[in-house]
Amino acid sequence: MDLLVLLGAPGSGKGSVAVRLAALNPNIKIVVTGDLLREAVARGTPLGLLSAGYMRRGALVPDDMVAQLIGAQLAEGKSGCRYVLDGFPRTIMQAGLLEKIASAEKATLKAVIKLEVPEAVLLERLAGRRVCTECARVYHLKTLRPKVENRCDVCNGELVTREDDKLETVKKRLKVYVQQTLNLVDYYESKGLLRRIDGSGLIDDVVARVVQVIE
Ligand code: AP5
Repeated sequence: MDLLVLLGAPGSGKGSVAVRLAALNPNIKIVVTGDLLREAVARGTPLGLLSAGYMRRGALVPDDMVAQLIGAQLAEGKSGCRYVLDGFPRTIMQAGLLEKIASAEKATLKAVIKLEVPEAVLLERLAGRRVCTECARVYHLKTLRPKVENRCDVCNGELVTREDDKLETVKKRLKVYVQQTLNLVDYYESKGLLRRIDGSGLIDDVVARVVQVIE
């Protein structure tokens, strides 16, 4: 089992890129940490109950809790597939935990893709993001409009603003990214795994850049 990590600030397009990579190749499976946590919150599981407050504040959920979630996902992984991890790891501690999980699952971390996007673009993307309440599909008021206003093209679910996309919380998330996640860049660069990708411009162009690097 091969692993790829998608690293980037809130709104850098990790989720959008991950979904498109999986659509291009049936052997690519995606593990979207934020979606897994939001699902746990919505279902009121013990993990969800513990995570909700951190997420609402734009803080990181404790490392061991997230690592358990990802470990459980990868334990069900299929050999021969490539797993794209969107949003994990986000701290040096989580990077160490990922190494343990990978070794237990006989998986190899092939590359860490860092999506680079200017802050003004991140803010615009997060301000315009809308998410389906039923299937979690992501839209944007300017760049990816649904066919029918406020309705998901796929399941007709209602589109809403994510609770943590309020400007105040977004600012907090960006700060947390700089303080707790950015040092993974040096960490993975020193291991020769880091690949920097320009994450601005059209989403199809960004995906093409990622595909070129991972192939
Ligand atoms: P998570 O859901 O992972 O949030 P995030 O990392 O802040 O990332 P986002 O989902 O906001 O952005 P994205 O990069 O996926 O961008 P997207 O593709 O949607 O995590 C939420 C919370 O969960 C965290 O704050 C934390 O509390 C907790 N958590 C998660 N992982 C954790 C971990 N490992 N440890 C601890 N806690 C954790 O794009 C954004 C918008 O832009 C969309 O509307 C999209 O349509 C649009 N867009 C994207 N690309 C383009 C493009 N190229 N051109 C035009 N529009 C674009």
